[in-house]
This record gives sequence, structure tokens and C-alpha cells, in this order.
Amino acid sequence: MPSTPPGARGAVITGWGVALPDKILTNVDLESMMDTDDEWIRDRTGIVQRHVGGTTAGLSTEAGRAALDMAGVGPDDIDALILATTTPDRAVPASASTVQDQLGLTSCGAFDLNAACSGWVYALVNAHGLIAMGARRVLVIGTDTLDRITDYHDRNTGILFGNGSGAAVLEAVDGGGQLLGWDLDSLGEAESALYAEIGGVLQMEGREVFRRAVRLMADSATNALTSAGVSADDITLVVPHQANIRIISASLDRLGIPLERASIVLDRTGNTSSASVPLALAEALDEGRVSDGDLILFVGFGAGMSAASAVVRWSPNAAEFTDDGANDE
Ligand code: ACO
Repeated sequence: MPSTPPGARGAVITGWGVALPDKILTNVDLESMMDTDDEWIRDRTGIVQRHVGGTTAGLSTEAGRAALDMAGVGPDDIDALILATTTPDRAVPASASTVQDQLGLTSCGAFDLNAACSGWVYALVNAHGLIAMGARRVLVIGTDTLDRITDYHDRNTGILFGNGSGAAVLEAVDGGGQLLGWDLDSLGEAESALYAEIGGVLQMEGREVFRRAVRLMADSATNALTSAGVSADDITLVVPHQANIRIISASLDRLGIPLERASIVLDRTGNTSSASVPLALAEALDEGRVSDGDLILFVGFGAGMSAASAVVRWSPNAAEFTDDGANDE
């Protein structure tokens, strides 16, 4: 697995934002829709409620605008918009085009990236690649509206999924920036464990996904730690994909990282696929769980089966890295 080359131009996250639709579906609500119960769902998944409704472009625009406002970045300043999603609003064009228009981003490239629940971490790594090649600012959004491909009468899948969006602004810096190491992975041979045909709903072999997910997350995280040249003990905060608290707990066990170091939002959001990592990141940052110099480990897995991890040394201040005017050409 390649690692970040020495001397590559890096980036820092300077703003973030989230969006969740107003409508909430609790476990108790689900009891009248399928043969399940609140206690079973809490015990077996950690999920208590999920949000439903909204569109992928609409939620992305809300989260993206919040991130731009926080970064103090104007619509002319973004060079690329990457929207990680597995539920675009239409087959053509990319939902990123709609978001670009709604945010008024006047001069940027915009594209969707589908790596299922690993999507936002895939997008984060790809954004760093664009910045290494000269982009100044990239807006990285992860959004899914899984209610459109979920059968809420099927207890195998209907208890898990919800809608949401999270976004971050990445700004180029002169030095190496935040990203220390990364890993992108895919296990196509396991794709039949979790899929949805076009126009269909999610089909899943839950136990198989669980089994593979624990190993994939631990392996991918280990690759990223190695690539960054750090150990699991060095990590202050883990931002894992939010699929099931038992998957997170088992994979962190393998890594030797206590569960208390993870940011967990799945109790309130369910599995929001591409949105889950940026939602969990935003909550941890808003709660002040990360200080300058701390190491964050992102780790995602999803249908494909895909996996992606990144190790970031936190510093929110682009100016610390950047000479005057270096970002303004
Ligand atoms: N409510 C009540 N009982 C249930 C439910 C339910 N929703 N589902 C299954 N059960 C019952 C089963 O019938 C079974 O009963 P039995 O023992 O009498 O036969 C028992 O509970 C255990 O069933 P399992 O299928 O073994 O349940 P498990 O503990 O594996 O939990 C789950 C199922 C939650 C789906 C788990 O396997 C899981 O989380 N898998 C991973 C799913 C996942 O993360 N998917 C997303 C991937 S990311 C992406 O790309 C979208």
C-alpha cells in the first residue's frame, strides 16, 4: 500500500458541518412496522433511532454550507467538490452537480464518489491527492439517504439504516499538512454480502458482513497506522464507520484501542453510510475532544466490500503551515 510521499503538499481541515433530516424513526416506531423490538435492536446494534427524509443534494448543501461558513471560505474559493454517496438523487447527473449549483460554487469540479460506507474516507484521501496536484481548497461531503433503498418492513436491514450528511473543507498548506498515512481497500469477492440492485432495496447477509467488517476495519486501520509510522497507542480519537457498536468494539479490541477513544453517534443516527464518519468527526470536534497535535484515526468499511482508513495529526489552523498568500493564487 502506498504512503504519503515526503514533500507532498498537504492540507488541513478548516471547517465542518452536518445535516440530519427532521423526521426521526425510533426503534419503538419500528416495532409496528416489522417483527422486532427496541431492546433487541439496542442490544445487538447500539442503535436507538435514525433520521429519515430529505434528499442527498439537499442534505449535502446544508452540511456543505455550514462547513464553508465555518472555514470562512467563499463560493469562488473551492476548486473541487467531492460528494461521497451511495444514494445519488438521480442516475445522471452526479448529485455533486446539484450541490455545486445550490452552494453557488462558481468555478470548481464536482463529482460523486461511491465507495458505500467507506466513501467519505475514500473522498478525504482523494481530496488530498487533488491538493497535492495543485488544488487549493476541496469541499468533501458524505451524504446518504438510505431510506430510499431500505425496506423498513424487513427486520434484517430495516433496523440499521438512516439518512444524514457531513462535510469538511480541506485547505492546502505549504507543509505536509494533517494526513500522515492512509489505506484504501476493496474485497470484491465479498460484494454479494451486501448490495442493492438499481431500483431495488438493500440485501444483506448480516452475519457475514459482521464477520468480514471486523477484520477489514482492523486490517485497514493497521495499514494506515503503519503508513503513518505511528502505533495504536498514539491515537487520541478513533472516528469509525457507525454500523453496529459491536463491530466497532470488536475491531478496536483487535487494534488494542479502548472503545472510550471512539466517537459514537450511531445510537442517534443509525448507519448513515457515507455520512457516518463526518457526523462522528463533527460531534467529537464540537465537544472539544481533540487538541492541537492529537492523532485521529478514521476507519470505514462498507459494501463492496470496501475499507478505508486515514491517520491525521489534528491542527485546525491552515495559517500555521502556510506562508502569507500561499493559498491565494
Ligand atoms: N429483531 C428481533 N430479532 C431479530 C432481528 C430483529 N431485527 N433480526 C434477527 N433477529 C433474531 C434472529 O431471528 C435470531 O433468532 P434465533 O436465535 O431465534 O434464530 C437472533 O435474533 C439472532 O440473529 P442474528 O442474525 O444472528 O443476529 P446478529 O446478532 O448477527 O445481528 C445484525 C444481526 C444486527 C444485522 C448483525 O449481523 C450486523 O450488524 N451485521 C452487520 C450489518 C452491517 O453492518 N451492515 C452495514 C454494512 S455498511 C454498508 O456498506 C451499508
